[in-house]
Amino acid sequence: MRPHPTLTARYASTEAKPEFVNRLFDKGAKHYDAIVDWGFLRSGAVYRRWVQQRHGLKLGDHVLDVACGTGLVAVEAAKILGTAENITCLDPSAGMLAVARTKLAAHFIQARAEVMPLADNLFDFLTMGYALRHVTDLEIAFCEYHRVLRPGGKVLILEVTKPAGRFFGFLFRIYFGRIYPWLTQLFTRSHDAREMMRYYWETMDACVPPSSVLDALRAAGFSEVKRCTALGLFSEYTAVKL
Ligand SMILES: C[S@@+](CC[C@H](N)C(=O)[O-])C[C@H]1O[C@@H](n2cnc3c(N)ncnc32)[C@H](O)[C@@H]1O
Repeated sequence: MRPHPTLTARYASTEAKPEFVNRLFDKGAKHYDAIVDWGFLRSGAVYRRWVQQRHGLKLGDHVLDVACGTGLVAVEAAKILGTAENITCLDPSAGMLAVARTKLAAHFIQARAEVMPLADNLFDFLTMGYALRHVTDLEIAFCEYHRVLRPGGKVLILEVTKPAGRFFGFLFRIYFGRIYPWLTQLFTRSHDAREMMRYYWETMDACVPPSSVLDALRAAGFSEVKRCTALGLFSEYTAVKL
């Protein structure tokens, strides 16, 4: 199941998507943290730590942060665990990984969620922050998550979801579709950074509904599949490998 239809204005086919996405994040990497920081009113670090605590990350857990980007989720996990030595960060973008490596002494792997060069049954907790839309196939990625988690292990997927109502849907469209990319260009003076944030919006707009994400988790073999939301905007998908 694709997370969204092919965005032909951006790339020609599903096969071409990974290369396009990789280039986008490689080019935008140096601006990513600043953009996310002010774009989400400086709430990002607190929220990323709080959500992992709330969903049960605990001392001693072995963590895999898929699509780690610049390490924003993993840095907060390390604060909870008191160390980064049991954290593995995975991302296909060399540019994003280079930034993450400056922040924490975790294990880093350059790879995609769909094909992870990791053994079976390794992790207690698997996170994926704001990257669901970038994989080529949800079920393939989720099967990989199921494979690398230990029995009893938990997956936590964070995503921004377009509100269903017309009024909040309109505000969401104006902010993420217009204001956020425009402010990004203004503050960074970077065309690459603006394109990264325009694509961010385009994929949110085209993303499959939450029910499809839940179905894909079930199809991958997960149990206790749930979604809860913060402010009706931030989706937290959780599931357990029995
Ligand atoms: C919006 S950033 C999210 C970074 C970070 N997790 C956060 O919370 O801010 C999306 C990340 O997904 C990564 N990504 C893109 N395609 C991916 C794939 N197929 N598998 C894993 N990660 C992917 C990108 O390289 C990028 O670093």
